[in-house]
Amino acid sequence: MKHYKGVFITLEGSEGVGKTSSLKFVEQQITALGHDVVTTREPGGTELAEQIRGILLAERQEPVESKTELLMMFAARYQHVTQVIKPALERGQWVICDRFVDASYAYQGGGRGIQVAQIEQLEHWCLEDFKPDLTLLLDMSVEEGLERTKKRGKADRFETEQLAFYENIRTAYLNRAKKDPQRMKIIDAAPSMQQVQKSIQQQLKSFVESYATPDL
Ligand code: TMP
Repeated sequence: MKHYKGVFITLEGSEGVGKTSSLKFVEQQITALGHDVVTTREPGGTELAEQIRGILLAERQEPVESKTELLMMFAARYQHVTQVIKPALERGQWVICDRFVDASYAYQGGGRGIQVAQIEQLEHWCLEDFKPDLTLLLDMSVEEGLERTKKRGKADRFETEQLAFYENIRTAYLNRAKKDPQRMKIIDAAPSMQQVQKSIQQQLKSFVESYATPDL
């Protein structure tokens, strides 16, 4: 695996787990350590990829095929990785990304039922062995997460799915974390924001301590 000067951190989780405020917190923490931070998101992160995001999230009459959805996620991702993420890492910046490839395994794999081996093929083709250095998986019960999204107002195409869809997403995320515990750290997102931030801080601390690059 190619070694970059910068560090790539991703945040994952199902709907309503508090990703946005946690992302801001991670950004503050890393900036406070003196690193130059680029914050971005998927699907999105470039002009073209943001347009693909708009297409993906829009409510529409025409049913969206699972494979169409997966291919569009990867189309946006390839553009984003090539144009934004890798160049930033090469410059030595720390990239913090709201969702990445784990979301495709959770949503299109767990949620839509696409086989893991098929997603792996796409991942290998588009990303080769490129992976986040650290992934924080915010986890809470599906009911509680959905309750929180309801308070946010109008739902997008993903947020109107049934409970089972989200249960499958949560299970897929947790299974991925179990298979790759070194990279993927589970954060219990149910307690108070203060408590969640404390857990994130602990994970970042042990990551920074163990991450051996000459620049740290
Ligand atoms: P967001 O609401 O967290 O910004 O993400 C937009 C939606 O896109 C969210 O419902 C999850 C979904 N998504 C996938 O289904 N697959 C993916 O690979 C990514 C990155 C997001």
